[in-house]
Amino acid sequence: MGVQISPSLLSADFARLADELSAIARADWAHVDVMDNHFVPNLTLGRPVVEALAAVSPVPLDCHLMIADPDRWAPGYVDAGARSVTFHAEAAAAPIRLARELRALGARAGLAVKPSTSVEPYLELLPEFDMILVMTVEPGFGGQPFLEHALPSVRRVRQAVAASGLDVWVQVDGGVNEQTIERCAEAGADVFVAGSAVFGSENAGSAIDSLRALATRACATVAG
Ligand code: DX5
Ligand code: ZN
Repeated sequence: MGVQISPSLLSADFARLADELSAIARADWAHVDVMDNHFVPNLTLGRPVVEALAAVSPVPLDCHLMIADPDRWAPGYVDAGARSVTFHAEAAAAPIRLARELRALGARAGLAVKPSTSVEPYLELLPEFDMILVMTVEPGFGGQPFLEHALPSVRRVRQAVAASGLDVWVQVDGGVNEQTIERCAEAGADVFVAGSAVFGSENAGSAIDSLRALATRACATVAG
């Protein structure tokens, strides 16, 4: 599939979300951070807003659920129009059952881990997922500095995906910008979430282009 860029709407202007989506039409996905003030100490948006975004978005929605009890709430986000739904390993009671339910509803299923959560216990679940998200900041807020110590997990997931022969995407989220994206790509990420680096820039379209170019070059160096 190659490099994909998923700008996070968390850094967008919440009063002009439809315009902000048009500004990222060159991206592969729009990353939507759902926070419930329980799993993380912040509250963003929920299903009705996702439904409204899905109706106008030029790109598919990549929903990142930072919520307690995803087993109960995640399927509703597929109904709301999300094409990819990622829930946290730390929050799910029955991750396999939930991933199967999301896939049966027609969405891609993603599993997220916080920067300090070991990925090891989840590697045997790779066949159940379409994407693994390794957080590169503590979830909850945009604009935080990149956590270098999450990169070994990215490497470990990439190695396990390669060994499995499966086409599971490896996403990084948090502090991804022009200074850090190459290291993420070298570690094996192929889907890059960027909030402040895209919406905090003068021109969201060119920010997407330059992030994509940097990641593509770094991937080529590793592959070559
Ligand atoms: C953090 C969110 C991220 C956040 C990234 O909990 O999951 O998607 O918006 O923002 P930046 O790119 O600014 O770190
Ligand atoms: Zn996110």
